[in-house]
Amino acid sequence: MDLDTYGRWAKRITDWTVGYLTNLRDRPVRAQSQPGDILRQLPASPPEDAETMERIFADFEAIVPDGMTHWQHPRFFAYFPANVAPASMLAEQLTAAMGAQCMLWQTSPAATEMETRMVDWMRQALGLPGGFRGVIQDSASSATLAAILTMRERALGWSGNTDGLSGQPRLRIYASAQAHSSIDKAIRIAGIGQDNLLKIATDANDSMRPEALGAAIAADRAAGYLPAGVVLCVGGTSVGASDPIAAILAIAAAEGLYSHVDAAWAGSAMICPELREIWAGIEAADSIVFNPHKWLGAQFDCSIQFLADPGPQVRTLGLRPDYLETPGLDDGGAEGLVNYSEWTVPLGRRFRALKLWFLIRAYGLEGLRTRIRNHITWAREAEAAMAALPGFQIVTPCRFSLFTFCYKGEPETRDLLDRINADGRTYLTQTVHDGRFVIRFQVGQFDCSREDVMTAVAVMAELTR
Ligand SMILES: Cc1ncc(COP(=O)(O)O)c(C=O)c1O
Repeated sequence: MDLDTYGRWAKRITDWTVGYLTNLRDRPVRAQSQPGDILRQLPASPPEDAETMERIFADFEAIVPDGMTHWQHPRFFAYFPANVAPASMLAEQLTAAMGAQCMLWQTSPAATEMETRMVDWMRQALGLPGGFRGVIQDSASSATLAAILTMRERALGWSGNTDGLSGQPRLRIYASAQAHSSIDKAIRIAGIGQDNLLKIATDANDSMRPEALGAAIAADRAAGYLPAGVVLCVGGTSVGASDPIAAILAIAAAEGLYSHVDAAWAGSAMICPELREIWAGIEAADSIVFNPHKWLGAQFDCSIQFLADPGPQVRTLGLRPDYLETPGLDDGGAEGLVNYSEWTVPLGRRFRALKLWFLIRAYGLEGLRTRIRNHITWAREAEAAMAALPGFQIVTPCRFSLFTFCYKGEPETRDLLDRINADGRTYLTQTVHDGRFVIRFQVGQFDCSREDVMTAVAVMAELTR
């Protein structure tokens, strides 16, 4: 494809994008496809000869949009959002144009230094103290894996990487049952073993009980285990639970455990000072992750990991073979010089800071706060309206902008969820809370309005009338 053709198609695709986003409300939120529908429309073998963009794009229009669940749909209330503010989309187009690989300072000085600055902008925006530095990763799962590997190495006196895990003391990591499955996955990948992730009991608020954590650590020490770290949650995935940050971090400090706070979704809400009470004491954390690609509006993927001291993580993950050295500059302490790939598992890195730069400047922190405050207000209104509908029961209260409910018994709730999603005007998903099948309702889509939220409530009223 020559650049003239590219230019024409880039404009046409931008026009398509504007039309797509403008008319999203007319589409069903969840793909109405059946398994295999798309596969059957794609040739089994690749073409030997070049095809025209006209044909390629016609096929795209015919096959793809109707086969997608529309995450930018203003009535997407499922999972957590993956918001794409238009300003961040523009930044991603520029990133694609440069096709940069930002593994070292030398390979992309602007990306590296902008990452340093954007992480610090976000640190200030979240009200974290000045000592925190950070890195932008692809996902919270990667940040959590980095933190768990650091817990392992720190507890083993940095010998796991060199000697392997065989014959080492048996490590223990602690989290509540509300912790996301990415913690379980990290424990497995780190070779710590699922059975060594202890799920600590929670209270009526679904928050980790500090005294239960203290007792578990004491019992483990008495039994010869080596406690290594604790993972706390702020805004858990299932029902939005948060742990008592100050009390748990005090135990971690007293016991010499490394701490990692998973605020993947709710971290964005910390740009609102009035919401920060929920993580009071956060300044004592070793590591914190939050995903601007969820609620804030930075196009997926964009996950910030803040570190009180990057040293232990760099010691765990950093390698600098000859071919990755920057002669004359490494270790010279020059301002701005960081090789962020030494902080993370993958070597290759995308230029993710650019979309944060565009996003924050195009909306301003106050514009982003307004969205989050609106979402929380509308979620509470929806919760109150749902509670008043016959047969509906709120199971967990609105935390940030997430609540859960059921309709009569489990069969009726399951049936309602199927009918909501087949109807298409809105999209909700389920979880199981205390053994009970419930429907989650979270408000956080970048462009949703109060009317969209109340339409979802009206759809449920209509479907159960
Ligand atoms: C609380 C929490 N932690 C971690 C994750 C995993 O995030 P990611 O997809 O960025 O790995 C999620 C995903 O929804 C989450 O809600």
